Amino acid sequence: MKKTAKAFATIAFIKYWGKKNEALRLPQNSSISMSLDRCFSITTVDFDNRYKKDYFSLENEMVSSKEIDRVIKHLDRIRNIAKVKLCAKVVSKNSFPKSTGAASSASGFAALTVAAAAALNLKLAEKDLSILARLASGSACRSIPEGFQIWQAGNNNNSYAYSLHPANYWDLLDILVIFTKEIKPVGSTEGHALSRKSPFYLSRIKQATDLIPQTVKALVNKDFATLGQISEQDCLAMHAVMMTSQPPIIYWTGYTVDLIRKVYFWRQSGIPVYFTIDAGPNVHLLCQSTDKEKVLNNLKSVKSIVDIIINKPAPEAHLINNHLF
Ligand code: PMV
Repeated sequence: MKKTAKAFATIAFIKYWGKKNEALRLPQNSSISMSLDRCFSITTVDFDNRYKKDYFSLENEMVSSKEIDRVIKHLDRIRNIAKVKLCAKVVSKNSFPKSTGAASSASGFAALTVAAAAALNLKLAEKDLSILARLASGSACRSIPEGFQIWQAGNNNNSYAYSLHPANYWDLLDILVIFTKEIKPVGSTEGHALSRKSPFYLSRIKQATDLIPQTVKALVNKDFATLGQISEQDCLAMHAVMMTSQPPIIYWTGYTVDLIRKVYFWRQSGIPVYFTIDAGPNVHLLCQSTDKEKVLNNLKSVKSIVDIIINKPAPEAHLINNHLF
């Protein structure tokens, strides 16, 4: 049967960087995020006995044999649950550039999970879809529930994400400022493994864990200043771990640093805007929708921007009717 799903990338306020179990993709710390309505993947999966092997392609992008293997491994997980041996054709597309620190593997594997499970007629609860997506790409578990998510570190059976608040709970914006669409130098799977070599690894895990209750509270109170301050604190701590891994991973470029400094300056001049950065040089600006025009106006003075994507909190991963083939 053929099914198509749409799933959204997330931006984490408290991030996931480092695993306590590599194979099961169990995180060292819980993380909290918001999904991004303009950064999504659409994936069509067709299981049929006319396919003699599995096919995977990503519209308008090259895929490596490593990526194809990762998709097939995930199809195997879902086939095992459904107890079928059918091969599949999978076609996916992203609304945003792959591998630039905007988490396309998260939305991609969440969409693949939802589409493949439905195509094999599996009726899985959101929790089980989240666990399954996690096994393919850790943060993909956060791309299953809607709006604002928490991923409890947990263990194999209880490490999954659920929604703390729906998408329409708070009109926060994530303005993603893209300086480059080039593929990042070190992928996140390798980066998670290297993070343990940083002398700051455990202290960042402790800080992130300690910040979880405050982040939950900031969301409950819609306390944007606290949420923004925590997001910057954990982003800088995560990048400190990345930069001090062995070998070091430096995802930032000069443009990243220039924009961080500008955000401090804009805040001093009265605009409540904060930054956070994933595994790449591009910068996510967090603001409330009332400040959108001011932030966009200030961005006019920033050089070398190739694209800006303005995101609101997104719905949960879901099936759609328009197939890609
Ligand atoms: O799920 P992965 O392996 O792509 O790791 C994502 C890690 C960060 O995006 C850097 C942080 C996060 O929590 O989203």
